[in-house]
Amino acid sequence: MKTLRFTTLPGDGIGPEVMDIALEVLKKLGTLHGFSIETSNHDVGGIGIDNHGQALPESTLAACREVDAILFGSVGGPKWENLPPKEQPERAALLPIRKAFELFANLRPGNLYPELSDLSPLRPDTVANGIDTLCVRELTGGIYFGQPKETKTLENGEKQAIDTMVYRTSEIERITELAITAATLREGRICSVDKANVLETSVLWRDTVINCVQKHNPDIELSHMYVDNAAMQLVRDPNQFDVLLTENMFGDILSDELAVICGSLGMLASASLGTQKNSLNLPFGLYEPAGGTAPDIAGKGLANPCAQVLSAALMLRYSFGLEKEANSVENAVKETIRSGLRTGDIAQGADSVGTAEMGQAIIDRLK
Ligand code: IPM
Ligand code: MG
Repeated sequence: MKTLRFTTLPGDGIGPEVMDIALEVLKKLGTLHGFSIETSNHDVGGIGIDNHGQALPESTLAACREVDAILFGSVGGPKWENLPPKEQPERAALLPIRKAFELFANLRPGNLYPELSDLSPLRPDTVANGIDTLCVRELTGGIYFGQPKETKTLENGEKQAIDTMVYRTSEIERITELAITAATLREGRICSVDKANVLETSVLWRDTVINCVQKHNPDIELSHMYVDNAAMQLVRDPNQFDVLLTENMFGDILSDELAVICGSLGMLASASLGTQKNSLNLPFGLYEPAGGTAPDIAGKGLANPCAQVLSAALMLRYSFGLEKEANSVENAVKETIRSGLRTGDIAQGADSVGTAEMGQAIIDRLK
C-alpha cells in the first residue's frame, strides 16, 4: 500500500481544528483508495515563538526536509501582534519557509461555487455562474527578497528605508512555464500582469513571458495588463481571466482581491510549489488555506474546514500525483455545499453548523 509522507504544521488560531478535519478526510480517503498517511506534527508561527523562541524552529524545518510535502495551517494572532514587524509570526514563518524550499510558485485558485454566489460583494449578474480563475504568483523574488533592504539614518538625521525589486530572467521563466502548464489544463489563456509603463523589472517580465510562451506553447492565448487596470478589471468581470500570472507583490495584492470577490476566505486553498522534486519525483510543496487564523472564533469549533480540506486536495494532486483522489475531495466539498450545509462564515445569517459537522458531511461524501 502506498504511504503518503508529509508534515502537518497547524500553527495558531483555528489552524489546529481545521487541520484535524483535513487529516480525517485524508484517512477516510485512504481507506477508499488504498493509501495510508504518515504524518508528524510541528510548531510554526506564534506557537513556535512560545515553545521554541522562533516562528520557524529549526526542528520544524528539519522535519519538513524529510518528507514529500507540507500541509500548513495558519499563523499569527493578537498575542504576538506587538512584536516588531520582522518577528511577527506571519512574516517570520512564511518568508523563510518559502526561501528554505525555494517555493517560487504560488497557485491561488479563485473559485466561487454558483450556490455561494450571494456571498460575493460583486453584482449578482456578474457572478451568477460563479467564478473560476487561477492566480499564479511568483513567490521568492521581487521586492520581498531583493537587496538592499534596509532602514538607515541619513546625515541630516532623517531616516530612509529601501526595498529593492529585482528579477532575473530565469526566475520569470520558471514561473511562466508553470503558468503555461496550468493554463494548458484549463482554457489556455494567460493574462500576465505587470507595470511595464514604469518599472524596469516589468519590462523584463513582459519580454520574458512573451519569449517563454512562444518557445513552450505558442497556442496559449497570451495577453498583458498593467496592474492598476487588472485590479479594476477583476471587480468588473473576474471571469474574463483564466490564468492570471504575476510577480510577488502584485500577486499578493491581486490574490487577496480575488479572494474577497470569491466570497469567503474559508473556502479558498493555495499551493506553493518548489524547485525541488520530492521522493516521488513530483514538486515538493506547501499547501495552505488562504484565510487567516480567525482568532475571534478559534477553539470554539465554529471554523470552516473547507479551505484546509481543499488545500489537502491540492497536495494530493501536485505533490503525490493523485488526481482522481484530489477530485474526490473537491467533489465532496462541492456536494456538501450543494446540500445546503453552511458554517457561520458562509451562512449569511441562516442556520449554521460547526467544524465537526461540516467535516463529517465532507467525509460522508467521499467516493
Ligand atoms: C500571503 C501573506 C504573506 C505575503 C505575508 C503574511 C508575509 O500576505 O501569503 O499572501 O505577503 O506573502
Ligand atoms: Mg497576502
